[in-house]
Amino acid sequence: MLRLRTLKLKDKPKILKWRNTKDVSKFMYSEHKITKSEHDIWFSNAIKNKNGYHWIVEFNGDSIGLASITDIDEKNSRCSTGFYLIDFEPRRGIGTFVKYSLIDWSFNELNINKVCSEHLAFNEAIITLNRKIGLSQEGYFRQHISKNGILQDVVYMSILREEWDENKRDIEAFLKDKNLL
Ligand SMILES: CC(C)(COP(=O)(O)OP(=O)(O)OC[C@H]1O[C@@H](n2cnc3c(N)ncnc32)[C@H](O)[C@@H]1OP(=O)(O)O)[C@@H](O)C(=O)NCCC(=O)NCCS
Repeated sequence: MLRLRTLKLKDKPKILKWRNTKDVSKFMYSEHKITKSEHDIWFSNAIKNKNGYHWIVEFNGDSIGLASITDIDEKNSRCSTGFYLIDFEPRRGIGTFVKYSLIDWSFNELNINKVCSEHLAFNEAIITLNRKIGLSQEGYFRQHISKNGILQDVVYMSILREEWDENKRDIEAFLKDKNLL
């Protein structure tokens, strides 16, 4: 079974390990090794939902990643999503399930109008996944983020509530077909 579950204290060390794993950190904006004290502050805010909402992605009982909703902006009715997966079988719909869950939760629980997602432009997998589930590119920021001494381009994407209402059923059918919903 694939699900998102709330954070527990026991997740703290493994999330630090994940955040410093090359396969994850290469797609993040930050480039330094995250220290234990830095992570302690992040985690203590995360578990209290002070810096957004965070969930562990669990597949058949194994923790395989972290999913987050951040930058919640009530006035302008929008938020951002982000996630990563570790030690998982790619191309079987798990990424789609996580993104679907984050977007659907945002529209239902936060009752907002727009869900955003921004990525380093070389992160083709997530940009393709986003497009597939209905996000549109609304910005392309050239040489925007310095990553290991190289200025990288950034792609800014989003989906509006009305677009989600239109696309949602197709994504659910895709996930049901893969036995993930
Ligand atoms: C990006 C990522 C989340 C995709 O997860 P996944 O479970 O393999 O994705 P899915 O199986 O749901 O794929 C859905 C669609 O996304 C696209 N996609 C997924 N991986 C892709 C890849 N490597 N290259 C191009 N397109 C890709 C495809 O259109 C795919 O549909 P298809 O398999 O029917 O062609 C995963 O590769 C990952 O975690 N990467 C490392 C960390 C990361 O980039 N996280 C996001 C950070 S912002």
